[in-house]
Amino acid sequence: VRGVTLLGIETSCDETSASVVRREADGRGTILSNVVFSQIEDHAIYGGVVPEIAARAHVEALDGLVRAALGESGRNWVDLDGIAVTAGPGLIGGLLVGVMTAKAIAAARGLPLLPVNHLEGHALTATLTDGTAFPYLLLLVSGGHTQLVAVEGVGRYRRLGTTIDDALGEAFDKTAKMLGLPYPGGPNVEKTALAGDPTRFPLPRPLKGQPGCNFSLSGLKTAVRLAAEDAAPLTERDVSDLCASFQAAVAEVVEDRSRRALALMREEIGAPTALVVAGGVAANKAIRARLETLCNGMGLAFVAPPMALCTDNAAMIAWAGALRLAEGLSPDPELPARPRWPL
Ligand code: KG4
Ligand code: ZN
Repeated sequence: VRGVTLLGIETSCDETSASVVRREADGRGTILSNVVFSQIEDHAIYGGVVPEIAARAHVEALDGLVRAALGESGRNWVDLDGIAVTAGPGLIGGLLVGVMTAKAIAAARGLPLLPVNHLEGHALTATLTDGTAFPYLLLLVSGGHTQLVAVEGVGRYRRLGTTIDDALGEAFDKTAKMLGLPYPGGPNVEKTALAGDPTRFPLPRPLKGQPGCNFSLSGLKTAVRLAAEDAAPLTERDVSDLCASFQAAVAEVVEDRSRRALALMREEIGAPTALVVAGGVAANKAIRARLETLCNGMGLAFVAPPMALCTDNAAMIAWAGALRLAEGLSPDPELPARPRWPL
């Protein structure tokens, strides 16, 4: 296999991103550029991502970001071997902007087009950043996704668990909203929890100790609401204690589900080389600490790629495209944008 250089494009949610990534013949990867434009300020006043606003912002930003990514990479169009673009899952308006732009560039430059599943981008990031070897367990926890996936190889994923109601980041965001904290909720809940007592409110640990590796978060969210109503009017102390208690419950559930998924993987797939985390919620220090302790106790590597590559970015899409190209796995270039697309 020869070395390849890919342009990646990501527009599935509220980050517009373009990146140039190089994969050497020996499998090593280098990020030559990775420009990310976050729309978070456009959506903050609405308390969540507004799809129509997101799609329009992608249209405005993408051309400039592609030029910037190519410029920063020090490469030219003729140096590229392909264009990788997120074709799903995500918000359809944004996906269409990315896919149509990528198709236009691919046609104009005579380059192969590689539609990439966004979740595959997250799943393969650790092989770029940390050289993590297959198979490993991925815990992907963001505003839209909550998944435990056994990553056995490029294009070989087995989902061991997912949420049966809210995503983990969504639970953080909704809890923040209930307690009057600003969007995005996760970082604010974490900050507020620092001053709180995690044992003050006895919140449920949904599905903890139960068979399987799924998550359920809506009951916990309701329990926070009821506890907040009981304690109203809330003092600053109450809000801190509620945040700390919520975060402790979530961290315990994440640890329990991950422990089960690791055991299931060992039994049915093979010994994992590592537990890898991705997604915005992976920034949470309380969750990280529990997972690190779990891994240390098992003599297992705990891999947390740099935060900029844990959240949405185009480098992970370019890298997934490069691995697919190297393995001859490129899917149908006519593949349409798909709002729903399981791994
Ligand atoms: O991966 P991400 O940036 O975007 C997508 O959802 O695709 O994740 C954003 C989510 C939000 O729900 C945010 O509240 C949550 O990740 N988040 C956190 C933290 N930082 C971000 N949740 C808990 N603790 C954090 N420190
Ligand atoms: Zn994502």
